Order: sequence, then C-alpha cells, then structure tokens
Amino acid sequence: MSLYAIGDLHLHFKSELKARNQIEDKVWQNHEKVLVDNCKSMITANDTLVLVGDHSWGKNLAECRYDLDYIMNLPGRKILLRGNHDMFWDVKKTGQLNEMFKGKLEFLQNNYFSYEDYALVGTKGYTFEGPFYFDRYGNIQGWDEKEAEHAEKLVKREYERLVSSFEAAKADGYKKFIMFLHYPPTNILQSDSIFTKIAEKYGAEQVIYGHCHGKSRFHDSIIGKKGKVVYSLASGDYLLWKPMVVLKLNLIKKYKKEV
Ligand SMILES: [Fe+2]
Ligand SMILES: [Fe+2]
Repeated sequence: MSLYAIGDLHLHFKSELKARNQIEDKVWQNHEKVLVDNCKSMITANDTLVLVGDHSWGKNLAECRYDLDYIMNLPGRKILLRGNHDMFWDVKKTGQLNEMFKGKLEFLQNNYFSYEDYALVGTKGYTFEGPFYFDRYGNIQGWDEKEAEHAEKLVKREYERLVSSFEAAKADGYKKFIMFLHYPPTNILQSDSIFTKIAEKYGAEQVIYGHCHGKSRFHDSIIGKKGKVVYSLASGDYLLWKPMVVLKLNLIKKYKKEV
C-alpha cells in the first residue's frame, strides 16, 4: 500500500513524434522496458502510482491508445496528471476520461483522490520559461514581456484549478495533502511562487512535479525541503525510470503506533 510517483514517460507507441533528447540522450534508450522492469520489481497491485504528466506524444485518444494501454498494464493503481504534451486530454472532459477508464486509470484535474488519510491533489501548473536575455557573463538582463504576460494568465487559471482540488478534498474532511504539479512550482528566477504559497497555505507535506528534462534543467526549481514542504522532481529521466517513493504505508503505521 505504498505511494509512488514518476512522470514524463513521453510514450510514442503509435505516434511518430519524439523529442530530440529522446533520440540523443542515452537515458531514453529503451526507457519503456526499463520502467516496466523497475515498476514490476517495486510496485505491487496494492500500491498507487501517480504519473505527473507528459504521458504520450499522441495528438488524440486514438494515437495514445497503446501508450495508455502500457500505463494500464503497469502494476498498482494509476493516477494521471495532465502535462503540457497531453493533447488527448481535453481539460473540460476529465469526467468523461474518468468514466471511460473506470477501474483502470484515474485522471486528476479539478478533483482529488484519496490515499489512506491523505488527499492527492494537483493540476498541470505553469511556469514562465522565458525567453530570458543574458549578458555576456550569463547574468539575466531581462525577459520577453509579452510571453510573461501570457504566462501570468495561465498561472492564474492553474492556480484556480489547484485551489478547487484542495477545496474539494477539504470539504470532504481531508487534512493531509500531497500536491502534484506537472510544471515545476517555480521558474529559474523565483524562490517561491503562487504554487509554493498554496502548498504552504493548505499544509501540503510534499509537492511532486515533472517537466524538467536533461541535466541542465533538473535544477530549474526547488528540490528538497523549503519551510515545512518537501519538493521532489519526478521526471522519468531524472529518476532513471525508477519511480520515487512518496509514502511507505508500513512506515506511516509504525510512526502512528509510536505516537
Ligand atoms: Fe512537460
Ligand atoms: Fe516532459
């Protein structure tokens, strides 16, 4: 009954699309098989795995069919978050996806799922990724104002979705939260953001996010403890396709007994 997370599988069993790093970076070679082997050795049917977005390169459900089948066949209960590449997932039709894949996959958006006495809340999130303008010493001198303005609107929308996820859980009596985002909670210029503030406000114990690929991007945002919240990057290439342990139930039970 443990809780695991990983993200950014970027599957493409049916789609022709691939990112450049999926072709050039060794860590992506045969990553589907590496992940399955790791999941089978770690995760049991009673465990829960949260996938933090960018599941598939497919542009629609038909193109994602084999990718979603692959995820369905991983061991344990699977909860999916929406990534920026998940074109198959119309945000207004999350309810329909949950109906369509009932008993097989669960889709986290404007809702929450329970895990023991925790509420698993989340949304895609958004961070402004530039372009940033640098001087010849590599110091940031400015950024694209128009893009920044657009980003602000997207951040506001994602903020509202995240709040509705927390509020739905709170209304059902949950007091303990694990928060999932696809985008990192902060961009490279920020030390906090509206997302870190929500995590603090609701008392989320952990924030788990993906989206950052390649060694040069792994440290774009917070990793480790900040205030009372523990932040973790769960993109698959960062984790070398080994899901991270979010909560181990036997440890929770042991702790409760001791307290
Ligand atoms: Fe992404
Ligand atoms: Fe990604």
